[in-house]
Amino acid sequence: MSTRKKIIAGNWKMYKTPRESLEFLNAFLPKVHDHERDEIIIFPTATSLAFVIDRLRGTHLHAGAQTMHWLNEGPYTGQTSPNMLTSIGATHVLLGHSERRLYANETYEHVNLKIKAAIAHDLIPVLCLGEQLVDRQGGFTRDIIMAQMGAALSNIPAENATQIVIAYEPVWAIGTGSTASPEIANEVHSIIRTQLEWVFNAEIANNARILYGGSVKPENSAALLTQPDIDGLLVGGASLDPACFAKIVHTKY
Ligand code: PGA
Repeated sequence: MSTRKKIIAGNWKMYKTPRESLEFLNAFLPKVHDHERDEIIIFPTATSLAFVIDRLRGTHLHAGAQTMHWLNEGPYTGQTSPNMLTSIGATHVLLGHSERRLYANETYEHVNLKIKAAIAHDLIPVLCLGEQLVDRQGGFTRDIIMAQMGAALSNIPAENATQIVIAYEPVWAIGTGSTASPEIANEVHSIIRTQLEWVFNAEIANNARILYGGSVKPENSAALLTQPDIDGLLVGGASLDPACFAKIVHTKY
């Protein structure tokens, strides 16, 4: 039995104004206020983040950003820096989400710079990885995952990687309704853990939380969370409704 505390995280993508975010929390917090078994993290949109952080003060929930730049300031229109995130109390940052790669041309080299910046600012990076459908059909899942990890984690000393969280999100499962079967997900999670041992060391590999994401809902959360290498969930669509997300948080496992 692993002693890794599981993480249940909600990725709100480009949904919810500040008012809607606070309405969500007003309904959600009473349902999870005494839930200490797992870490709960919410990734709201940039305009809601400071409001969400303020509302979560004094609770055991955390909030983070969906992306960031790696520099602290500069002529980069539209970007948010690590410094800006920590100054409002953000604790986590999603990096390398497949939608960022697809729609914002984010490469794994960028993600590598961002992970280093997150670590330097004491932000916990949640590195998202995942293969496309064609990769899986061609039998390249392992190669893709190893390549993504190799690039994203290059030149990061082991002592800086103790906090890193990884989210395995097969691109074909995101927002499509088709989840990876718990066994398929677990198999990739164990590839990721082995690779973490290779890149860093056994202790980091054993302690790292590896989350699954891609069409998670209350109906499939138990089967996923009972897999030995699945240490939590990154939930998109199903995290937008307080009752639905609370059900996922209370999954029996
Ligand atoms: P989904 O999104 O749960 O809506 O599939 C997951 C994610 O992209 O993080």
